[in-house]
Amino acid sequence: MSNDETTESSPLLQVEGLKKYFSITKGFFSRVKGTVKAVDDVNFTIFKGENVGLVGESGCGKTTLGRCLLRLLDPTDGHINFNFDHKAVDLLALNKKELRAYRRYIQMIFQDPYSSLNPRMPMVDIVGEPLKVNGIAKGDELEERVRDLVDTVGLDVRHLRRYPHAFSGGQRQRIGLARALSVNPPFIIADEPTSALDVSVQATILNLLQDLQEQFNLSMLFITHDLSVIHHICQRVMVMYLGNVVEVARTKDLFTQPLHPYTETLLKAVPKIGYRGEITRFAPPGEPPDPANAPAGCYFHPRCPYAQDICKEQHPALEEWAEGRYARCHFAKELSLKGVGSE
Ligand SMILES: Nc1ncnc2c1ncn2[C@@H]1O[C@H](COP(=O)(O)OP(=O)(O)OP(=O)(O)O)[C@@H](O)[C@H]1O
Ligand code: SF4
Ligand SMILES: [Mg+2]
Repeated sequence: MSNDETTESSPLLQVEGLKKYFSITKGFFSRVKGTVKAVDDVNFTIFKGENVGLVGESGCGKTTLGRCLLRLLDPTDGHINFNFDHKAVDLLALNKKELRAYRRYIQMIFQDPYSSLNPRMPMVDIVGEPLKVNGIAKGDELEERVRDLVDTVGLDVRHLRRYPHAFSGGQRQRIGLARALSVNPPFIIADEPTSALDVSVQATILNLLQDLQEQFNLSMLFITHDLSVIHHICQRVMVMYLGNVVEVARTKDLFTQPLHPYTETLLKAVPKIGYRGEITRFAPPGEPPDPANAPAGCYFHPRCPYAQDICKEQHPALEEWAEGRYARCHFAKELSLKGVGSE
């Protein structure tokens, strides 16, 4: 499947009205002092075999959203409909026992390959654990499957009995990938999987992820703060700002013609390589807002160069402005924003 194609197959995951609010407490009696709306009324669909990028600045709610999908956090409200194996279930309606059976269908790859692997387990046990826990394989069959997986992610099968400390960061991220793939999940959440790695290693891990996505027909939610990473491996992109989704589009459309001013700002922040090889970076203007104290009206208005009076008062809804193109901006249609290569 090419990068800029949108899969027109059936939905795997449909998220409706998802909210996760955290209470901020203070003092001896833990009095509630405020609320962080980390995820606030988020709606989206991921199709089977599709890779969707989730991008936004630090603290905008990306990880919280990912953890809610896995129910590592219990959402405040909403529905997460998961359609797989000819069944449609609302993950939020499952009890603990039912949820355990579903966990194998959604796997997560974490940002830090150093802390996410058990240092006291050799690679063979780390990769094989999900197969064992879910009663999928044991004994020689288990080891055979682990060997296959280790080989698939480009690691040496002679190192099966090595411990995590003997592997590099990139190799550890491959171990995490093999472990996630072991139970053959239809859906993977990758939370900044390359941001802790050297730039040279990042590219090889991204290529591997792309190959595996095609080989295993995976759907993926790829979380990152770096739009340039998304460009290569995601068919569609969702942009988040302060708990809200502010733009959804096919990757190519988003890069060439963004509809939300915040997306335009993020695109300017993608590092550019100049004529003499120097790299210029653009920092988004203004401070990211306090998530416990969102501004009135459009949350982006204090930093938006196009803000008008209405923006200070009315919070815009996420509207579809063209086929498959959603933006949360009063002026999405009037503004002619700059994408990559449009200067
Ligand atoms: N357990 C918690 N209790 C209170 N607030 C929390 C908790 N977890 C997250 N938050 C707050 O929710 C908001 C969203 O955090 P989250 O970690 O989801 O952001 P993020 O987009 O993943 O950021 P980063 O790019 O830095 O990883 C932040 O303001 C954060 O401080
Ligand atoms: S609604 Fe107004 S402030 Fe918000 S992004 Fe659009 S133009 Fe900017
Ligand atoms: Mg995060």
